[in-house]
Amino acid sequence: MIQEVIAYMTTPASAWARDLGFLAESISIDARWNRYSDAYRPHQRNCHEAILNATENLPQRQRIVLLGAGIIYDVPLADLIERFAEVILVDCIFSKTTRKLVREFPSVKLVEFDLSGVCEHLATHDGKKNLPELKSGFPDVALEADLVVSLNILSQLPLMPEKFARKRKWDGNIAKWGEQIECAHIIGLQELPGPSLLITDFAHLTYPERSHNSYVEESTLYSITSDPETEWIWDYRPESVESGKARCALKVGVWMFRK
Ligand SMILES: C[S@@+](CC[C@H](N)C(=O)[O-])C[C@H]1O[C@@H](n2cnc3c(N)ncnc32)[C@H](O)[C@@H]1O
Repeated sequence: MIQEVIAYMTTPASAWARDLGFLAESISIDARWNRYSDAYRPHQRNCHEAILNATENLPQRQRIVLLGAGIIYDVPLADLIERFAEVILVDCIFSKTTRKLVREFPSVKLVEFDLSGVCEHLATHDGKKNLPELKSGFPDVALEADLVVSLNILSQLPLMPEKFARKRKWDGNIAKWGEQIECAHIIGLQELPGPSLLITDFAHLTYPERSHNSYVEESTLYSITSDPETEWIWDYRPESVESGKARCALKVGVWMFRK
């Protein structure tokens, strides 16, 4: 807990990313990766494998862009540094672990960017609480990439903006707007000039106490039009006697948008 407080005070972050809760969320995700490292390993391995498979057979390997890579554990960084002249990590918050790790590698660049295109407006609005229109959700570097990867971020994109807008009673259909944020990201990936890879959770599983066979499944996405090419289960909150909470997991899938 003390470590998390220190991280909150010392991790660089824009005012809007703090206000909307991204910094606190990033620190708690980072802490979960450390606490549950054994349980997270298969998910980590699957993410690495999906990304590396997608880099095979590319016509060239100048630049790879990873969206949602602020917490580095699901990125096979060493392999990507070997394979690409430039590795660009995009997120609205970069954890201290990520910042420290990439410092030694000049070919790795960090781009702080709001991939929903609405967050800064929410945090600095002019008093009229109309839901902001979506702006472009991709940084320019993605337009000239040999591969763009959306990495465990799609379901997260509407979450903080929706929570913020609901808490402060913004006008408009918040769920519909959240759906638009999500759809804009998928369409953006599909419309990029080069190939893109989408890795995202698409269902949340809650297991009743001590049951490993039955679970309650709820979608984590508003809409996804096709079945994934591959999928796995990520035990993001393994059963734990000490927490006394039920086991929860996510179904994670991989979609490749080829040109
Ligand atoms: C579940 S984490 C992604 C997975 C992470 N790479 C890991 O190892 O678990 C979600 C990431 O999306 C980022 N994120 C959420 N909304 C964002 C936005 N609007 N713009 C940029 N990044 C965003 C968060 O900061 C966080 O790093």
